[in-house]
Amino acid sequence: MKPVRKAIFPVGGLGTRFLPATKALPKEMLPIVDKPLIEYAVDEARDAGIEEFIFVTGRGKSAIEDHFDNNYELEQTLAERGKQEELDQVNQAKLKPGQVAYIRQMSPLGLGHAVWCARNLINDEPFAVLLADDLIKADKPTLTEMIEVYETRGGNVVSLMEVPAHHTSRYGIVEPGDSAGRIVEIRGMVEKPAPADAPSNLAIVGRYVLQPSVMHHLSAAETGAGNEIQLTDSMMKMVGEVPFNGLRLGGTRYDCGDKAGFLAAGIAFALMRDDMATEIRERVSHLLTDTA
Ligand code: UTP
Repeated sequence: MKPVRKAIFPVGGLGTRFLPATKALPKEMLPIVDKPLIEYAVDEARDAGIEEFIFVTGRGKSAIEDHFDNNYELEQTLAERGKQEELDQVNQAKLKPGQVAYIRQMSPLGLGHAVWCARNLINDEPFAVLLADDLIKADKPTLTEMIEVYETRGGNVVSLMEVPAHHTSRYGIVEPGDSAGRIVEIRGMVEKPAPADAPSNLAIVGRYVLQPSVMHHLSAAETGAGNEIQLTDSMMKMVGEVPFNGLRLGGTRYDCGDKAGFLAAGIAFALMRDDMATEIRERVSHLLTDTA
């Protein structure tokens, strides 16, 4: 079984739910406390042993490239001013030369299309996909757990969470088979079904471990829900071709592509920080009292 060494970060979307903030700023650069969303996803991939980081970008996304690169002027100024802690933070975000590749999607035709754009960098290896706007707070990083499932079962692994029945039309929804603990065998899936058509209320969230053969299915470039090229539709074609399992999330997922989810994530992550928790708790409690 080949190890999972590569990860794709699709960051080519328009982020329309966050306009006007995302007119000139990539959605993935929005900060949760003081770290951009994309850095949380890259850290999760690093922790899981990923060695090659492939970003599928679009117009106006160059801030992402700059974020993981050297910034000599800033680094020199921080060093001269003795701001070692800040300098360490800036250095820690960097990816090493040769570890990172940027591919332009050119037209945001959907998540499936974004993944397909990286096909020549994936070749014949299994790979991970991480959507930075799905931020997950968990004791053990989600991708690490998913790769452990892949190492015992092979094939494809997606992460799953239960959603209210009336929200199924926002997600890819799976048809579950047998379960063993948090691992669920997957028998089918459908993108954004109406509640009446949904095979369950188990939704796919933005972490995937996929076999390279998904690229073959994606190359058909068929459009699906929302007239976009959907990753779910190509994954569906792999059910029966390769083992296909889901892992129920071991933590909390915040949809940071959505305004309320983004704000909730900011508060939740600030409350986890020793340097901020007390102040944030006081401020939130005052706000709640004032607006009651
Ligand atoms: P979303 O469904 O959140 O779409 O994409 P979006 O365009 O980013 O945001 P809204 O819905 O208009 O507000 C999920 C992930 O897939 C990427 C996005 O960048 C995001 O990380 N994506 C989506 C692409 O890379 N390319 C696409 O064509 C579509």
